[in-house]
Amino acid sequence: MNKFFNTDTLLASGQDALQLITEEYHNMESKQVVPDVKPGFLRHLLPEEAPEKAQTMKEIIADTRRFIIPNLTQWQHPNFFAYFPSNMSHGAIVGDMISLAFNTPGFTWVASPASTELENIVVDWIVKFLGLPEGWLIKNRGGGTISNTIGDAIFLSVHAAKHKKMAELSIDFTDVRMLKFVGYYSGICHSQNYKGLYIKDIPYRREIPIYYNEQVQNYQIKVDEFEKMVEKDISEGLIPFWCGTTLGSTSLGCNDPIAEVAAVCKKHGIFLNVDAAWAGAALVVPEIREEIGKGLEGVDSMAINFGKWNMCGNNSAVFFVADKLNYRESLLGGPTPEFLKNKFTNEYDIIDYKDWQIGLGRRFNSLRFWYMIRSLGVEGMRENVTQKIELAKVFENHVKKNSRFEMICKRELALVCWRLVKDKDGNPIPEDKINDVNKKLLDNINATNQYHLVGSVVQNLHFLRFVICNHNTTAEHVEKFWNLIEEISNKLFD
Ligand SMILES: Cc1ncc(COP(=O)(O)O)c(C=O)c1O
Repeated sequence: MNKFFNTDTLLASGQDALQLITEEYHNMESKQVVPDVKPGFLRHLLPEEAPEKAQTMKEIIADTRRFIIPNLTQWQHPNFFAYFPSNMSHGAIVGDMISLAFNTPGFTWVASPASTELENIVVDWIVKFLGLPEGWLIKNRGGGTISNTIGDAIFLSVHAAKHKKMAELSIDFTDVRMLKFVGYYSGICHSQNYKGLYIKDIPYRREIPIYYNEQVQNYQIKVDEFEKMVEKDISEGLIPFWCGTTLGSTSLGCNDPIAEVAAVCKKHGIFLNVDAAWAGAALVVPEIREEIGKGLEGVDSMAINFGKWNMCGNNSAVFFVADKLNYRESLLGGPTPEFLKNKFTNEYDIIDYKDWQIGLGRRFNSLRFWYMIRSLGVEGMRENVTQKIELAKVFENHVKKNSRFEMICKRELALVCWRLVKDKDGNPIPEDKINDVNKKLLDNINATNQYHLVGSVVQNLHFLRFVICNHNTTAEHVEKFWNLIEEISNKLFD
């Protein structure tokens, strides 16, 4: 019997683990959404040293049940309305378990032919069912890969853009013009955009201002302002090369006008990235694609995180590039060592995913995508989106019906941004107090530990975000939560 990989133990403890998962999911509602623990709690519960002798899987699973699961923030809880969904599917869990069991690093085609080819197939399927530009299919000029997080994808996008601009200018890293590169990011973007530029050593990082657009009833960047910034930078001898935009911003769910930004980028030779971390999943619904997916043909790269609203688990950002040759070239970084050379790379038109990422090895990510997609079908993914949107409408209606509250912008997909504007007697809360009142409302809701919400701020206006995240949330949960909000809002003025 193999001590290190004992298939009997695997089978028995695998069943125990599945038992644990299913029981915990069934009991989800009885848990606190956020555990009542203080930093350092786990050190007091677990031994200081690793065990010298092997322990049984039964013991380890029992401790998982006792110490770990109750002290997680329950992202799968029906009353979790914070950040964004991190929802799962049974398919992704099973697919991931199998991929982990065979642990193929898949850095070249030959290092794991099925994992490379399954990734090719899955990313092409995604192009088709999300209605992304045909040019991004692997048989065409572009292509996709599974690249962990949106942060990784943004870094890689900046990297590819820098490479492209350096090639255009025929310069290397020693050229002083490297100190003149300018990257732009929309004022509604996630902070990962700034971080991408910063860690790629881009000396000039410019935020494009936003304004409230009455027509779309949400915030957006000013495209003419963006163009003026670019023209000014060029006139001062700087080199604009990358711009980060968003579909479905984290704070407000708003969308940058991609087609217009793309036109400016094209005119000035700027590489354009779209971060559709959360909202990208919703493109599976044709009407939503029609509404927010315009202009993607003019984009150079795009990232969608299937670990958020699309049930694949973390490390599931899919990154598409419109020009895979430039992308691959940007990541080659020197001669190939002897042990990585092989006849398939030399003789066939294949992808070696080591040339599409920073690291060499990688997880067999596509298997969990394949399981999720096949076990739900495109129809199931569509339903996942529309079901969450319908529930968000229940909350939106409450905000709109009660004059003590207001919407900050229109509901975007399954996200509602709102705040309290009147006191208990219906008098407007003074301007100099309203932000603090709303911060207090948020704190008091979260202090119950039965619900979880996060707030945000736009142009010094503090508000609360409510997003439907989970499969097990029902209209009844939303109604109950609304009643609690009204109750807490009254108590704020007692
Ligand atoms: C629009 C957007 N971009 C980027 C991120 C960061 O994603 P990741 O954790 O995949 O880097 C988020 C997460 O909330 C997001 O909503």
